Amino acid sequence: MLSSRRVAAWGALLACLSVTLEARGPEEEGQYKGLSNYSFHDKFMFGVASAAFQIEGGWNAGGKGPSMWDVYLHEHPNYTLDSSNADVTADSYRLYKEDVSMVKDLGVTYYRLSISWPRLLPQGTDNYVNEDGVRYYKELFETLLANGITPVVTLYHWDLPQSLMVLGGWANPVMVDYFEDYARVAFKLFGGLVKIWTTLNEPHQHCSNGYGTDFFAPALSSHGVGEYLCVHYMLLAHARAYHLYNNYFKATQGGKIGITLDAFWAEPKVVNDPQDKIASERYMQMHLGMYAHPIFSKDGDYPLSVRQRVDAMSHHQGYSRSRLPYFTPEEVESLRGSSDFFGLNHYTSYLMTPSSLEPNWKVPSLDHDTGVRIEQEPSWPKPGASWLSVYPPGFRKLLNWVSNNYGRDIPIIITENGVSDTGGINDYARVDYYNRYLYQLLLAINIDHCNVQGYFAWTLMDDFEWKDGYVSKFGLYHVDFDSPNKTRTKKLSAYKYQEIVSTRLINFDTLDKRSLRRTVNRI
Ligand SMILES: *[C@@H]1O[C@H](CO)[C@@H](O)[C@H](O)[C@H]1NC(C)=O
Ligand SMILES: *[C@@H]1O[C@H](CO)[C@@H](O)[C@H](O)[C@H]1NC(C)=O
Ligand SMILES: *[C@@H]1O[C@H](CO)[C@@H](O)[C@H](O)[C@H]1NC(C)=O
Repeated sequence: MLSSRRVAAWGALLACLSVTLEARGPEEEGQYKGLSNYSFHDKFMFGVASAAFQIEGGWNAGGKGPSMWDVYLHEHPNYTLDSSNADVTADSYRLYKEDVSMVKDLGVTYYRLSISWPRLLPQGTDNYVNEDGVRYYKELFETLLANGITPVVTLYHWDLPQSLMVLGGWANPVMVDYFEDYARVAFKLFGGLVKIWTTLNEPHQHCSNGYGTDFFAPALSSHGVGEYLCVHYMLLAHARAYHLYNNYFKATQGGKIGITLDAFWAEPKVVNDPQDKIASERYMQMHLGMYAHPIFSKDGDYPLSVRQRVDAMSHHQGYSRSRLPYFTPEEVESLRGSSDFFGLNHYTSYLMTPSSLEPNWKVPSLDHDTGVRIEQEPSWPKPGASWLSVYPPGFRKLLNWVSNNYGRDIPIIITENGVSDTGGINDYARVDYYNRYLYQLLLAINIDHCNVQGYFAWTLMDDFEWKDGYVSKFGLYHVDFDSPNKTRTKKLSAYKYQEIVSTRLINFDTLDKRSLRRTVNRI
């Protein structure tokens, strides 16, 4: 993501690296053999995740309105790595029954997916509901339930109706009202079938990449200003939808509703360097605390350190008001405790060092306000996308950070975790990733007593991966995007995940295809 430009001389760099590795060494797992010493309990929720825009296609089918991602990609055909768009992608709009069979085959009993807002409300507003959208999601949810799979439904996974984007999208406070209207339509129509809702997916990625930079659509590059408006109004919209459900639907429908936040783990570059430790904590607060503290902390509101930092920077830069808006006391109260669970997406870790300015930072910006240079540890493997290196202990450390900051009462559900590669059925790197990350999860649950109740692998099948187009592959199933029927093929990692789900154990020995197939057949 952010490229690090090292200025250190080779000698200094090498000395620093060896310190880093030495200090980080012991906590890395060795080469595990045999079965994990801990197991997932029977009630642990195993699932697999996807998102509407990344798999559905049918971008203008059945009366669907355009989303801002549709429009942005049509207007900027070379935006993605492979100049692709998501007009068809895996064609789940047509092939959803195959998706359900695949979920069932994995043996998981939960499927996390999202509703496309413009498929349901083509104009974004609730005056007109698209019947075909209602039909599609009803059939999908009913098919899942008929197969013993509980749908876990995200209302917003980034595909904003274009009609609301032209109003400024999440930088506009009216979005709070429009999101509540949309949520009401969804709860009314689908609340009989859907018992686990999440309001928003990864507001942090959406705001910092889509509003603060041009890395995601809508590519507003409103660094340091628009990105914080987006944070603020997305949080308020979440609280609105939460209370709407809680006050008017929960008693009769009996479901739960929460939010999904995302976080890298921020690891000090030199483990015992006090400045690097401070930088790591600051990064966590600016990137996760900003979203989690208003909802999950005892006191609510933005973390004090975040408040003070952005206020001071804004003042110093000549703004008469902070670039980060303030919540009213009523808004603080409406956000506090507004989630039945902590949905957490995690993929990777970065090394942290303090810095006041880097060549690639804009001023003002979240990067500049955070004041932390992030880089990847060269020894961590990177099987696919350039931003995703493999550091399993970071997962356990992140879970501990969340538990220590927000308590162990709130259930944590890992709503996404996974790794990308460059394709193929024999995805050993993904098998290894799931083995090792899930083992860290077992340690976090059993040794650290983190209250983790569920886990969703990202993702069911290869899909449209935003800026990466179809280059990065995250799927448990391969999709042949050139075939007319988007043929799905089970990967080695799907066999592996199936084995973990059914045995509730991690078998570190089943890395090769034949032994995996044998084990799975025995189950
Ligand atoms: C299980 O515990 C034994 C004994 O402490 C240890 O040698 C082994 O490495 C552990 N295995 C795993 C997979 O954790
Ligand atoms: C996209 O790239 C192609 C091939 O390089 C080029 O011909 C075309 O003009 C580009 N389109 C836009 C809108 O930039
Ligand atoms: C695609 O699926 C349709 C409907 O199931 C089927 O009739 C058709 O033969 C398939 N096409 C190919 C090329 O497999």
